[in-house]
Amino acid sequence: MGESMGNMRRTHMCGVLREENVNQEVTLMGWVQKRRNLGGLVFVDLRDTTGLVQIVFDTDVSDEAFKKAEVIRSEYVLAIKGIVKKRESVNKEMPTGDIEVFVSELKILDEAETPPIYIKDNDDVSDVMRLKYRYLDLRKPFMQKNLKTRHKTMKVFRDFLDENNFNEIETPMLTKPTPEGARDYLVPSRVNPGRFYALPQSPQLMKQLLMVSGMDRYYQIVKCFRDEDLRANRQPEFTQVDIEMSFVDVDDVIEINERLIQKIFKEIKGIDIKLPIRRMTYKEAMDRYGSDKPDLRFGYELKNLSDILANSGFKAFASVIADGGSVRAIKVEEGANAFSKKGISKLEKFAKTYGAKGLAWIKVEEDTVNSPIAKFLSEEEIKAILERTEAKNGDIIFIVGDKDSVVYDSLGHLRIEVAKKLDNIPNDVFELLWITEFPLLEYSEEEDRYVAKHHPFTHPMDEDIDMLETEPHKVRAKAYDIVINGDEIGGGSIRINNSKLQSKMFKALGFSEEEAWSKFGFLLEAFKYGVPPHGGIAYGLGRFLMLLTGMTNLRDVIAFPKTQNATCLMTEAPANVTKKQLEELSIDIKLKDSKE
Ligand code: AMO
Repeated sequence: MGESMGNMRRTHMCGVLREENVNQEVTLMGWVQKRRNLGGLVFVDLRDTTGLVQIVFDTDVSDEAFKKAEVIRSEYVLAIKGIVKKRESVNKEMPTGDIEVFVSELKILDEAETPPIYIKDNDDVSDVMRLKYRYLDLRKPFMQKNLKTRHKTMKVFRDFLDENNFNEIETPMLTKPTPEGARDYLVPSRVNPGRFYALPQSPQLMKQLLMVSGMDRYYQIVKCFRDEDLRANRQPEFTQVDIEMSFVDVDDVIEINERLIQKIFKEIKGIDIKLPIRRMTYKEAMDRYGSDKPDLRFGYELKNLSDILANSGFKAFASVIADGGSVRAIKVEEGANAFSKKGISKLEKFAKTYGAKGLAWIKVEEDTVNSPIAKFLSEEEIKAILERTEAKNGDIIFIVGDKDSVVYDSLGHLRIEVAKKLDNIPNDVFELLWITEFPLLEYSEEEDRYVAKHHPFTHPMDEDIDMLETEPHKVRAKAYDIVINGDEIGGGSIRINNSKLQSKMFKALGFSEEEAWSKFGFLLEAFKYGVPPHGGIAYGLGRFLMLLTGMTNLRDVIAFPKTQNATCLMTEAPANVTKKQLEELSIDIKLKDSKE
């Protein structure tokens, strides 16, 4: 049983004590990091959210405290009173290493069993244990730091948006299921048997309606829910900083958001971001990097070889070009020695996971080339390839020929893989860029129709509107993403604010007028009554934080995250519910045979 604090009140935090506190009497509270018993002295490292301090139990100071200290173990919760003394052997590793506190009074506020994980940053414990005992995992200094950075970042967002006249407005969590986008999380309604709410995938339509309401500028730090395949940077529930503004076009949204991004980097990292942030069209990004979220911290740009190889004797390449595809290459400087046959074959396997049928390569050696495809190519073709890729002795060129989407995807990922393998990605460098002029629509093989690349309310570029009916695939959107170090940190668009254009858009998406009304009737109705031009953006808060904290998994910047299977190992959600609860919801569960 723990003791009560009695009249002890904390005077200082553990990690803040310094030489100037010497001779002060302090009262500290915290957890035992470790205890060492050296005969007449017991040393304890006491930990709170600010760090560690060494406290000393000495029979000369207090016999009573010393005796009690002998039973202390890791993670016991203590309150101590004592005098700060200068330390004889300074510990340079600890910020409080110049001092120690000699304890005159000790209260054991709570005992602790041996914790199942170590409370230190680099223990090798499994993710399963970390998530099951999340409250212990969160005691680790790096996790405490990450959550504080999260708090501070949210505050910078709020401060900036408040200073710029944005109103924080909450929108419902129980909403209408949305047919476009990712899969919804559904919530059954008890009072409306058989009907369901959906948890919002984003507050997109609500924030647009707030613009119709005349709120002018809105923001919200808001949970969003998407039932999709999870990855290192994807959680089923995640937080967006969601923003919308009235009477704006693309440049207005970008301009204010650049200042916001600049302020975040300054206040959180102390880094000056130069404005304006560079912009690149979607088309240029795909052509140069094979990706709409290129990592610009390293080169290996894609080069199009299609004109060189269109009439090549090498039929594998000539035929993909004839079929409307392309042949493209990346050159890796001084890569010839870095990649052995085995290394190349691993890269080929990697490229194949993105649909490539193979990975051709050319090593440039003293006055010659070494390549399995050299015998199929003419001398002129080889010369032209070396010129186009600016390859020199010692370089290696990787080539993929296929339909464009496969070429982009495989080479786009390959350039990252190569950079990782060669350790060519600098840490602590931030390469920011806006990707603009996204295609408005993309063709879905699965649905056999066009779907919105961003969402169905995205405004086409003014000069492309006429093509919406004739060549919809060519229409570009007033949409933009902010990309930092190869990750999409946020995205948004200018929205359609005119019913006629919205109808055209629905038509391009293959919805009849009735379908459009049944899906988005409330929005279309609202759009009859005067809609300002408007647009906005949403940041993935967690992704932004991954960058700011240098974490590689979204979980490390979230207090209580979910696993890859969307479960919570700590609470064991999702869970079965009682028969009574299901009856109240008028729901019968009949699980489908998993083999079906
Ligand atoms: P979008 O779907 O691009 O846009 O989402 C905005 C940003 O949210 C982050 N994000 C995620 N983060 C973690 N886990 C996920 N599952 C996840 N999904 C998305 C990304 C992304 O850039 N309503 C629009 C915004 C707008 O148009 O204003 C929207 O939701 O960083």
